[in-house]
Amino acid sequence: MNVSSSHSTTESSDFTTAPDSFALSLDRGRLPRHIAVVMDGNGRWAKARHLPRSIGHQRGRRAVRRLIELASRAQIPVLTLFAFSSENWSRPPEEVEALMGLFAYALERDMDELHAHAVRIRFIGDREPLSARIRTLMIQAEQQTEYNTGLNLLIAVSYGGQWDILHAAKQLASAVLEGVIRLDDDPAALRLVFEQNLSTATYPPVDLFIRTGGEQRVSNFLLWQLAYAELYFTDCLWPGFDEAHFRDALQWYAARERRFGGLDE
Ligand code: FPP
Repeated sequence: MNVSSSHSTTESSDFTTAPDSFALSLDRGRLPRHIAVVMDGNGRWAKARHLPRSIGHQRGRRAVRRLIELASRAQIPVLTLFAFSSENWSRPPEEVEALMGLFAYALERDMDELHAHAVRIRFIGDREPLSARIRTLMIQAEQQTEYNTGLNLLIAVSYGGQWDILHAAKQLASAVLEGVIRLDDDPAALRLVFEQNLSTATYPPVDLFIRTGGEQRVSNFLLWQLAYAELYFTDCLWPGFDEAHFRDALQWYAARERRFGGLDE
């Protein structure tokens, strides 16, 4: 299926220059540094409208653009989106093809605008099963936006939290075998080497995890990085996730008392 042919060519920008009532409505001192999102519910959104699932994913892309724009305006440092999990490869081939076509389309179509708004893009996940075309587009997007200083946007494609941990564990084992570090070294040093080899190495841990679509599970997303995240679940199906939903999530987060395993003050 040629996904690109089914997209409108007259999309307007999601980045606004209007006075920013959204950003002004937020408690700046209590914003998360890193938000991770499981964007669930595209299929159900489409089914409820008697539309094919692929249309649900296309509308999901619009919600992605909207959230990137809102996170930029709120000056959130890092946003990680779960676009395609290691497990999603087992979906019907036509759905995998439609999703891959949509990613390629979005990479070609949205990159200049994201770059113009100083978004810095990185992809996390196992690139090996991806097509050469998508891999090339990913590298181009990363190179084009490498020196941007705005929102750090991490897109998880062919990603699994267990895959990430296993990869970092292997790297740590190699460092031990090469004598760079010893197993009886300070655990903090071992942890540092391990974390430097996770796909999120240079980014802070997740503060706020958002999952749309009503399910209350983590689904093999950033397992290590979510250790102390606040978990926010909403019944809203992903294509409908808008400014009001995002503000609700941020306000809920701002009211949380975070103790990181310690005691109340
Ligand atoms: C889950 O909904 C969503 C996905 C597997 C794909 C996420 C993809 C997008 C949001 C589209 C575009 C993304 C980018 C980065 C351009 P589901 O299909 O499992 O929905 P269901 O649970 O209702 O069936």
